[in-house]
Amino acid sequence: MDLIALNKIAEKMVTPGQGILAADESHGTIGKRFDSIHVENTETHRRDWREMLFRTNAAMQNYISGVILFDETIRQSAADGTTFVDLIKSNDSIPGIKVDMGAKPLAGRPGETITEGLDGLRGRLAEYYTLGARFAKWRAVIEISHPEQYVGMTPTRGGIKANTHALARYAALCQEAGIVPIVEPEILMGGHHNIERCHEVTELVLDSLYRELYEQGVKLEGTILKPNMVVAGKKCPHQPSAEEVAERTIKVLKDTVPVSVPGIAFLSGGQDNETATKHLNMMNHIGGFPWKLTYSFGRALQQSALFAWQGKIENYAAAQEAFYQRSKMNSLASLGTWNQNLEGAA
Ligand code: 13P
Repeated sequence: MDLIALNKIAEKMVTPGQGILAADESHGTIGKRFDSIHVENTETHRRDWREMLFRTNAAMQNYISGVILFDETIRQSAADGTTFVDLIKSNDSIPGIKVDMGAKPLAGRPGETITEGLDGLRGRLAEYYTLGARFAKWRAVIEISHPEQYVGMTPTRGGIKANTHALARYAALCQEAGIVPIVEPEILMGGHHNIERCHEVTELVLDSLYRELYEQGVKLEGTILKPNMVVAGKKCPHQPSAEEVAERTIKVLKDTVPVSVPGIAFLSGGQDNETATKHLNMMNHIGGFPWKLTYSFGRALQQSALFAWQGKIENYAAAQEAFYQRSKMNSLASLGTWNQNLEGAA
């Protein structure tokens, strides 16, 4: 393993003012996004949509340090035959690849999942490296049960351990292959739980994750963490202020994430666009932590562009403008210099 090379990639992924575009939706997930604009989920539409994003040169060059691709996408080419990998690299952005095979029910632990994809991963990583991937993503999914559910409450210690162990095994294989692992333990925000419970579970999960990474020999300088922000569940009647989200997220990161990690790139997790930007900005505005804090957003970077696009060629420029705008707003947030007045002003 060439740790210096891995560290260089990881540092570039968190270049100040830049972040990651998560464009690695599986066929099922991109299908849901397309349903919302009544666009059929075909290979051509998936290509057209992603080509539009990757050809937004001003956004890609200035604000997007890396792009997470899906297996189909890393092998795909633009309409003129340029491979997506070359298109991304031509904008000085790094191609990455989602390598997990999705979250499946965890045997013996009702209500919990385990992310699969370790079998054969060494071979798949070697192929992705030759295709141009220099970083990878693996997402573990942790669901918090209803606050009034005592029997069968989740997550359990076993569920957390299984998922963080798999993340560490994946990360070690990535580093062996010369690929920077993004480790993503996502605590879902769809539930009824309050922010205190999200804080507690995020702490348990990250604590377990860094123990497992250590035990599997993963060198943290060559990794990126992709966590959730500490928020209340969407169905919780009490929604916290942006200050509370920022303060609790910084606190839990300081309590669990070693300083040798170069950067932390958040998922947006279903927060609306501006809220995700506002929270990231607030954290960077507060400051006082050793890592770069940036974005690795899927929905919060793409949603406004998707609605502008509507699958129509005549909306291409408007969609690119929307993607540019969200990238720029999040770039400012990663520097702590965003403010609400900038929204709407292209
Ligand atoms: P969201 O920002 O839409 O949560 O997606 C990020 C991601 O890559 C989830 O794995």
